[in-house]
Amino acid sequence: MQINKTTTTFEQLTTPVLIVGVPKTRKNWEAFTSCFGEQVEQWIKAGDIATAEKKITKVPFNSKVERVLFVGLDDAKSLTEKTLRESFGLVGKALREANLASFTLWVDSFVTEEITADDVAYLAGEGITLGHFAVANYKTTSNKEDAMLTSASFVTTADMDEVAAAFEAGSIYGDATNSARDLVNLPPNILTATKLADYAAELAEQYGFDVEILGKAELEELGMGGILGVNRGSVEEPRLITLKYQATENFDDVIGLVGKGVTYDTGGYSLKPRDGMVGMKGDMGGAAAVLGAMKIIGETRPNQNVVAVIGATDNMISGTAIKPDDVLTTYSGKTVEVLNTDAEGRLVLADALTYAKQQGANYLFDIATLTGGVIVALGMDKTGALTNNEDFFEDFMLSTGETDEFVWRLPLTESDKKRIRKSDMADLNNSPGRDGHMIFAGGFVGEFADDTPWIHLDIAGTSDAEAAHDLGPKGGTGAMVRTLASFIERKGAEK
Ligand code: BES
Ligand code: ZN
Ligand code: ZN
Repeated sequence: MQINKTTTTFEQLTTPVLIVGVPKTRKNWEAFTSCFGEQVEQWIKAGDIATAEKKITKVPFNSKVERVLFVGLDDAKSLTEKTLRESFGLVGKALREANLASFTLWVDSFVTEEITADDVAYLAGEGITLGHFAVANYKTTSNKEDAMLTSASFVTTADMDEVAAAFEAGSIYGDATNSARDLVNLPPNILTATKLADYAAELAEQYGFDVEILGKAELEELGMGGILGVNRGSVEEPRLITLKYQATENFDDVIGLVGKGVTYDTGGYSLKPRDGMVGMKGDMGGAAAVLGAMKIIGETRPNQNVVAVIGATDNMISGTAIKPDDVLTTYSGKTVEVLNTDAEGRLVLADALTYAKQQGANYLFDIATLTGGVIVALGMDKTGALTNNEDFFEDFMLSTGETDEFVWRLPLTESDKKRIRKSDMADLNNSPGRDGHMIFAGGFVGEFADDTPWIHLDIAGTSDAEAAHDLGPKGGTGAMVRTLASFIERKGAEK
């Protein structure tokens, strides 16, 4: 999107659409009224332009400002950043519906005592980009080119350079989240482990990351029995994808992002019921989140080293597939008794996490669509978390507050760990039971973090939306892309 720094007053303005925040009581509207007259004020009073929160009214205007999109702010005093981001999401949707590619934002009309012009511009860049997203499809009946947002301009009394930079920063976050959504939405016959690795390699090329892609033979040589075990039923090769972003001369103080990239989860021999299988193309949501965050890092180049490791494979059935009762040896050397082949994510993550540690990560995140249990516990709109380090988690929660992605921590007790370690045959078992099983799944991954500070994020509920929401359509959401990147950016800035 082209970001223009030229328009500063209404007099100079020509635009297909002007976006205006309209609170119940309007202050500082003289400039607007003196240029466009008292008519608007009458429409608001008559209720033809809504001031209720998140209500959007589109009004045809004049020959220079073709339309105005009024965005209700209610009592602007209680407006939160979350509500404003969502309001801009609705603006993005309205722009797509009306097929409008360029727009002008009257920044000052959204400013409140708490929300500055820069905040407004940032949230607009992010929210409009997210709301404008549409799911790519394969319908032969639709020959419409995908609509793009091509240019943004601003009317503001604040510093134009800063406003434009904030808008751009927000739109980088929105774009990267949308790229993760695209990956989640891709059909599993198209997005194989090999294709996911190709995408990661392209990202590396674009942003100058170090990249390493390991195939089946290399994983066999390394003894990665976790990911290889899951892959055994497939004709598609697995991939272990590693990207490195090096910010400092020595690659130390490294944040590791480990993603579950199961491109399709049938459950294996512990087969999923037919209705539970539909949608399992999204079982690589963790990988998508990691790649989305890396895209932001590539754009913003924070002063923080990052290593991203993705275990990519599908979970299929064949004569060679793993079975319940099999024992696998993971890359760490720890052995696992497989009790349920549908608990495959933790097996893939175990090897990927061990590899991330070996590549120098001394803070670890794993991100995965890991359990139906997290949905039972927290619903579809909350990411479940576990940790082995209170300070790390508390610090991370500050970032979730910035991005308004809801994360809720569950406990991981010694008795939970005992059950993960209970096996007659091996060091661990991959399915201690259904009761509180989000904790068993994440806790299993934590066994491979050892003492390294670690946060587990189960996005099984949040990665895929069952219905359209203010920030986007039904389908992949790009959950945790913004929060992970925001955390890494802050860590870089704190140095
Ligand atoms: N990929 C699933 C988890 C999942 C469920 C993701 C629903 C998205 C939506 C995972 O591999 C799985 O099958 N987990 C099992 C674990 C069980 C076998 C212990 C589950 O949650 O039922
Ligand atoms: Zn599974
Ligand atoms: Zn799975």
